[in-house]
Amino acid sequence: MTHAALLELDIRAKQYGDRTILDNLRLTLAPGQITALLGPSGCGKSTLLRIAAGLDRDFAGAVKLDGVPQQGPSPLAGVIFQEPRLLPWLRVAENITFPERASGAALSRARALLDEVGLHADDGARWPKHLSGGMAQRVAIARGLFAQPRLLLLDEPFSAVDAMTRMRLQQLLLTIVEAHRMAALMVTHDIDEALYLADRIVLLEPTNGAARRPASHVFEVGAAHPRRRDDIAGHPLRTVLLERLEASVAA
Ligand SMILES: Nc1ncnc2c1ncn2[C@@H]1O[C@H](COP(=O)(O)OP(=O)(O)O)[C@@H](O)[C@H]1O
Ligand SMILES: [Mg+2]
Repeated sequence: MTHAALLELDIRAKQYGDRTILDNLRLTLAPGQITALLGPSGCGKSTLLRIAAGLDRDFAGAVKLDGVPQQGPSPLAGVIFQEPRLLPWLRVAENITFPERASGAALSRARALLDEVGLHADDGARWPKHLSGGMAQRVAIARGLFAQPRLLLLDEPFSAVDAMTRMRLQQLLLTIVEAHRMAALMVTHDIDEALYLADRIVLLEPTNGAARRPASHVFEVGAAHPRRRDDIAGHPLRTVLLERLEASVAA
């Protein structure tokens, strides 16, 4: 049976030494929905994402994927970081299928994924060092999709590419999430990116080392896709988010 919530995150506390980074934080993600996690640098966004991805188990609380408590990384969740993190000694197709070898069905799937992320099937034979930043990030997205995850976790995935590439990659994310009815949780520090992509925005505020109250704020974006980039500048939430972000940086 499939569970209505794909990801259920319940972080009672996450500490580094004496510092409380996250506490009393609950988040559920439904299929077909993009949630943006917004907050100033150092507030714990990447920490939260790593916990959701099963890459950090040193916290009090629970992560459930499709209703099942997780003890580590799962093929149900694909993870995409700011840098593509491709293995330089493997060709593109092998990076996508890794740790499987790129042959037979795995290679066909890698080629289909290359096509889906807007590259050419033949790019599978290239070496990572010959790719532009945008192409490398497309490969990273293809790799994230290889295991047919139902959830995508993205940590500032488009922060390192130029503005034009960034817009194209944002479009790609929208297409992928819709085509596969995935749930996505995307960390960003860019309000406009959050307003363009997300159905829901979670604003995290820094704890300054002590327990935070309230933990976070959730905003429903409430605009249908496709959205017009022009409309974002006038979105009523934009001012609210800007003010809150500025206040939390100043605090
Ligand atoms: N491995 C670690 N050990 C100790 N402190 C850490 C570690 N990783 C992150 N931190 C601290 O935890 C806080 C949150 O970090 P992070 O989740 O990376 O923030 P963000 O992604 O929002 O910029 C920061 O103050 C950071 O310095
Ligand atoms: Mg971060």
